[in-house]
Amino acid sequence: MDSYVIRPEIPADRQHIFDIHCQAYGEDEEARLVDTLRAEGNFNLALSLVAVHGDRIIGHILFPPITIESRSGTVPALALALLAVLPEFQCLGIGSALIEEGCEASRRLGHRIIIVVGHPTYYPQFGFVSARHKGIDVTFSCPDDALMALPLVPGALDNVWGMVRYHPALSLVME
Ligand SMILES: CC(C)(COP(=O)(O)OP(=O)(O)OC[C@H]1O[C@@H](n2cnc3c(N)ncnc32)[C@H](O)[C@@H]1OP(=O)(O)O)[C@@H](O)C(=O)NCCC(=O)NCCS
Repeated sequence: MDSYVIRPEIPADRQHIFDIHCQAYGEDEEARLVDTLRAEGNFNLALSLVAVHGDRIIGHILFPPITIESRSGTVPALALALLAVLPEFQCLGIGSALIEEGCEASRRLGHRIIIVVGHPTYYPQFGFVSARHKGIDVTFSCPDDALMALPLVPGALDNVWGMVRYHPALSLVME
């Protein structure tokens, strides 16, 4: 499907974004989390992207900031944490397009690393690699192959190791 555009969210999109997460996840926890993070000014609106088909918002992706903390220092990064496509538009490549566009926007803004906890057969096609093998971990339990990192520039993961720290509200949803 190619009759859609991807752009940063605008205020008029907010209820639609809420509804997309409710429908995609089948509950409102993720939708409320997006609203909480936005209300706290926790994410860059340029990294909250929507897919628009005609006058309908059909998909959303968000990259909130996180840190990777080790005893030798703190490294800033992004999470690919909230991705949703309306059920009737799933498996048409829209999720993939949101990921690709969002990763490119993150790179343009100077970010270096994106962390995702997600499906291990889906994210490697975008360049995500196992994060635990690099010494990066999370405070909650998740399978080794579900925790992945994307270096946005060559060498971005070199000598980066430690514990990923999410916004507390985001941590709660991921646990
Ligand atoms: C995950 C999601 C955003 C993918 O969007 P999409 O537009 O359908 O994605 P694409 O069309 O680019 O890719 C679809 C492919 O990825 C697979 N896939 C993606 N995420 C998956 C997941 N969490 N579990 C299983 N398969 C997944 C699909 O099975 C499909 O595979 P196929 O093409 O071989 O049938 C969408 O399915 C969704 O909103 N799911 C509910 C919310 C969710 O789980 N979000 C992700 C949290 S990490």
